[in-house]
Amino acid sequence: MQRLLEIIMFLKTSAVSGLYRIIPVVIGIIGVVVFCPSFIEKGGCTMKKSSDSGVIQLPKAKTNSPTALEQALNDRRSVRHYTDSPLALEAIGQLLWAAQGVTNSRGFRTAPSAGALYPLEIYAVIGDSKKITPGIYHYLPKSHRLKRIKAGDHRKAICKAGLSQSAICNAPVSLVITGLFERTTGKYGKRGIQYVFMEAGHAAQNVLLQAVTLNLGAVPMGAFDNDAVSRILELSETEHPLYILCIGHPEAN
Ligand SMILES: Cc1cc2nc3c(=O)[nH]c(=O)nc-3n(C[C@H](O)[C@H](O)[C@H](O)COP(=O)(O)O)c2cc1C
Repeated sequence: MQRLLEIIMFLKTSAVSGLYRIIPVVIGIIGVVVFCPSFIEKGGCTMKKSSDSGVIQLPKAKTNSPTALEQALNDRRSVRHYTDSPLALEAIGQLLWAAQGVTNSRGFRTAPSAGALYPLEIYAVIGDSKKITPGIYHYLPKSHRLKRIKAGDHRKAICKAGLSQSAICNAPVSLVITGLFERTTGKYGKRGIQYVFMEAGHAAQNVLLQAVTLNLGAVPMGAFDNDAVSRILELSETEHPLYILCIGHPEAN
């Protein structure tokens, strides 16, 4: 802003009065560059791709659905084949909320947690979505936001780390549940390790049932190379991948 004012003052006091006429153009160019950083990167100022800043505010999750819980339990099946159709931002937000969304003012979440210590983190490997730039995103439960940690379509890499299971390659979105054991072992000692795995199961089942209510297909994946997934997600040494959930629109049988 300081720089912008300096430029305007220079042009105003300039002996070359013709320059004064280009002020609106200068302001326009500076405005686009400052307020739309994606302009240079993508060749256009598109507000649709809300991930351009790397942080995406997810739509508020719904707490009602026409699908009864019993129906979702009945209909859930592991689905490994998906259409090319990308996932809507609302669906991604709803699935993340199901995994670890905050549901009360004390910070408690959709999934139970031993001692309410919340050792899980959720990452979304997004290859194709209607409003999100491909990349690997970290879910921030408190603000219900996604924060991009890596741009680009990393599905092939995650798929390779997942022992080349094709569902990971083809799913428009895969969620990776990670755990920081120390958050729980600090209070519960060695038994805390068991608790963290239990919690990953809770979060995963929430996502799988939520997928049913959204008419999406999903499969939980336990067969993957931990070190390879950690490298792709750039996890610290204390954070461990626990589960991969592939999600997409189910291919008709
Ligand atoms: C802990 C766990 C790990 C799993 N790992 C994989 C996997 O790596 N690849 C896969 O295709 N399915 C995996 N599955 C899905 C199971 O194969 C599936 O749940 C099982 O065949 C029963 O089918 P259903 O989910 O349709 O009821 C896993 C399921 C669980 C619970």
